[in-house]
Amino acid sequence: MPTTRRELLRNGALLAAGVGVLGPARLLATAASAEPTLAELARASGRYVGTGAAMENLLADAAYRALVTNQCTHLTPENEFKWTTLRPSPAQPFNFGPADLAVTFAEQNGLRVRGSCFTWANDTPWWFDSYVTPANALSVLEQHITTVMTRYKGRVYSWDVVNEATDGKGYYPTRWAKLLGPRYIDNAFTIAHRADPAAQLVMNEYNLEYTNNYSRDRQRFCLKVLDDLLSRNIPVHALGVEAHLEWAAVKDQFDPKQHRRFLRTIESMGLKVVITELDVLDVNLPTDPVYRDKCIGETYKRYLGTVLEEPVVEGVISWGLSDKYSWMNTGAEARFNRADGTKQRPLPYDDAMAAKPARAAFAHALAGAKPVRGRR
Ligand code: XIL
Repeated sequence: MPTTRRELLRNGALLAAGVGVLGPARLLATAASAEPTLAELARASGRYVGTGAAMENLLADAAYRALVTNQCTHLTPENEFKWTTLRPSPAQPFNFGPADLAVTFAEQNGLRVRGSCFTWANDTPWWFDSYVTPANALSVLEQHITTVMTRYKGRVYSWDVVNEATDGKGYYPTRWAKLLGPRYIDNAFTIAHRADPAAQLVMNEYNLEYTNNYSRDRQRFCLKVLDDLLSRNIPVHALGVEAHLEWAAVKDQFDPKQHRRFLRTIESMGLKVVITELDVLDVNLPTDPVYRDKCIGETYKRYLGTVLEEPVVEGVISWGLSDKYSWMNTGAEARFNRADGTKQRPLPYDDAMAAKPARAAFAHALAGAKPVRGRR
């Protein structure tokens, strides 16, 4: 379904505003810094590096835009591919304006695009429950995935087809699971593969890092689901490890050897691993920003130093690049609120786009990464 004339005009104007300053900003930032960019460091080991980012922030803030386009090879539009953005109403037309804008922006800046996501419990448009029934759920899912993937075929190379589908020891009871049973996962992957056989199809999961029982259960169940999918030839190509990390947990409950074993098990199944949403929650750290940044830098060092030892990890996407635009600072969830009322400092760059210790740790881990071969 074509975008409306009004949307085209609005998006065109936004894009023009963005594009107008891209060239000079990019040159300035490159000239000012002798240090290699994260993109250069990632490429040296055959990897990619990217960020999740919302177009409204990229277009409104030239400094952020310059940072993202300079440092990254990849972009995951933060919300532009979610149902709540794409599907304002149950029937056509789809609202492709924001996603079109993101893909065009990425292409104009040489960034490859990951799309996220087709099924997620937290991404339910207002009309869903009154429209989707056990009888039509499969065709609604099929129409959605096929329409979106066909439109962006060859332009979005990787998709989170199933997002956060597991919960501890079992399947998370998403609306899709209630409507179709766990076979919605088979359906989603099969439909996606039919729509774009060249696309990388990802199962994206959180809390897979720690040695506590919850995390270990999640790892086990995840492996079981992937094994089951593969044994039935369901087309899944990679595990997305979100890596929404927490400072204290990485310090006390992250065992590099155990985690590398987990990653190697994924590799032995013939799958790739994508770190899809890296950031570090600092809710338990004291107020002092210098101390906090140091601790968070150590978390990046410990985590990335571990996962980048494994060739199966083909790339790292952080969930934002500057603290200024982290979802943790939007009041999205109560668990992100610090008792002292200060903002989270979860990302490699601060509010003023200055590099923090986390950026140095990121660069250091990329520079020391074991090379990968044959990535998609
Ligand atoms: C988040 C976005 O960052 C927010 O802007 C939005 O309000 C909610 O979704 N796991 C995911 C991501 O897979 O899609 C989520 O992104 C963060 C948690």
